[in-house]
Amino acid sequence: MVVPQYTNLHVLPALTEEYRKKCIDIPDTKERIPVGTVILYRVNDQVGKLGRMVVLSGVRGMSIGRKLVSALQEAAKAQGIKDIYLEGQVNKRGFYQKVGFQVEKEDEEPFPARSTSHYKMWMRSVS
Ligand SMILES: CC(C)(COP(=O)(O)OP(=O)(O)OC[C@H]1O[C@@H](n2cnc3c(N)ncnc32)[C@H](O)[C@@H]1OP(=O)(O)O)[C@@H](O)C(=O)NCCC(=O)NCCS
Repeated sequence: MVVPQYTNLHVLPALTEEYRKKCIDIPDTKERIPVGTVILYRVNDQVGKLGRMVVLSGVRGMSIGRKLVSALQEAAKAQGIKDIYLEGQVNKRGFYQKVGFQVEKEDEEPFPARSTSHYKMWMRSVS
């Protein structure tokens, strides 16, 4: 997907150094540039953790976040990971629910992290 300029401050720190070298200075609107990130951390053989979920501000609401989570789910399946969790900001709960995560009963109380409240959410039985 093509977006006008690669300047989003939320995305920049989320990208790897390799991507930064390739993309940070692209000025031409015809170039293809990354529009989002998501990372699967392998916690152990059965559990993964989703992190660095960000979509470039100009292209939010176009199902890119959903596609990123779907790609992450496929990657988890391929690795034999059964369950994925995340620690998401409270105002993102609706997004994560729509793409398949749930707050479980014992995690209904949000907890503080990085100066804002977060929920722990799970996607169970991925594979
Ligand atoms: C959260 C974020 C990744 C969503 O990405 P996106 O590409 O805009 O999301 P999608 O378009 O794939 O949305 C999928 C569904 O979730 C819904 N949704 C998106 N953001 C939502 C929110 N904050 N609350 C409730 N629902 C939300 C969409 O309406 C859509 O619903 P639909 O399929 O019924 O139409 C994006 O807003 C973002 O990068 N935000 C800033 C960084 C951030 O907060 N990251 C998460 C940190 S915990």
